[in-house]
Amino acid sequence: MAFVDPRVQERHGAAVGSIGFFEAATQDAALAVLEPACTWLSANGVREVWAPFNGNPFYGVGLREDRFGEPPFVGCAHQPSTYCSYLEVAGFIRMTGYLNFEIDLAGDTWRSQPIDVPGVTFRSASRRRFRDEVARFMSLHNDAFRDVWGEAVVSAEEAIEVMTRARLAIDPSLFQFSVVDGSDLGMVLCMANVHEVIAPQRAPLTSPSGVWKMATRRRRAKTVGLLSVGMLPELQSRGIGTALVTRACAAAARLGFERMEYALVAETNEASKSTAARFGGKLCRRFGVYRKEL
Ligand SMILES: CC(C)(COP(=O)(O)OP(=O)(O)OC[C@H]1O[C@@H](n2cnc3c(N)ncnc32)[C@H](O)[C@@H]1OP(=O)(O)O)[C@@H](O)C(=O)NCCC(=O)NCCS
Repeated sequence: MAFVDPRVQERHGAAVGSIGFFEAATQDAALAVLEPACTWLSANGVREVWAPFNGNPFYGVGLREDRFGEPPFVGCAHQPSTYCSYLEVAGFIRMTGYLNFEIDLAGDTWRSQPIDVPGVTFRSASRRRFRDEVARFMSLHNDAFRDVWGEAVVSAEEAIEVMTRARLAIDPSLFQFSVVDGSDLGMVLCMANVHEVIAPQRAPLTSPSGVWKMATRRRRAKTVGLLSVGMLPELQSRGIGTALVTRACAAAARLGFERMEYALVAETNEASKSTAARFGGKLCRRFGVYRKEL
């Protein structure tokens, strides 16, 4: 699917187009969809194409570069190893990527990180007011990620549509807000890697039976994904992001998780890489984003 997302163009100030939701069974089939997609983008004024780039973090980003033999990881792209060569044959080159870092929850590194910050309180999200919490989360995410590469604004309505189905699968202690002077000014959102239990059963994650399985079997998963952590820009670099991650680690360890993947860190995001490093995060998964000049 080729598309021109005004949010991406506005953010990058360039005539960028995207190709996302890319699937192909053979190289010829890949070329047969990538070439007309590029032709269509070019005819619409696009000068540079990014792929796979679905224009919205909820729909995945990037091309998996390792761990091909494993089931998908929650919130992350999942493709066979052949896709990289398909894109290269179609004239794309790797431009950047996203990284996942593994944090050992059974170890001590995360325990030595601060969990409190003077003047800041923390609260867990409410399941009863889940829609409001998701809207608040999305607004904070949009503001916090304003300057992070590849991020596009997602509306509260889109977030509610996608996340409400996961209401029972997201333990409130893994979805926390930092509060300053009575206002939510930062957040962290983690979710069990439900694919560990769902992938073998092949039920779509958002089907009614998938939702039921997530709710009832998620505790069997040993890994939790940290899918988003962010502070409003004016409150960054004050230790609050670190405290949010420490709290997420503490909650996850209490729930019995053994490892955390601090997921989808843009390669250029120094603050986030430093935060993962504080927790002993080890690089464990990579996703590439490719570009082609038209
Ligand atoms: C990443 C983020 C959550 C960290 O929270 P924070 O409260 O700003 O960071 P902290 O004060 O707790 O510091 C954590 C580390 O980040 C570093 N850091 C913070 N802001 C930074 C910046 N603007 N540039 C480079 N490093 C920065 C700190 O120096 C520290 O690293 P150190 O231990 O090597 O000194 C926050 O900067 C943020 O919201 N960024 C935008 C959204 C984002 O990138 N989220 C993570 C995506 S996966």
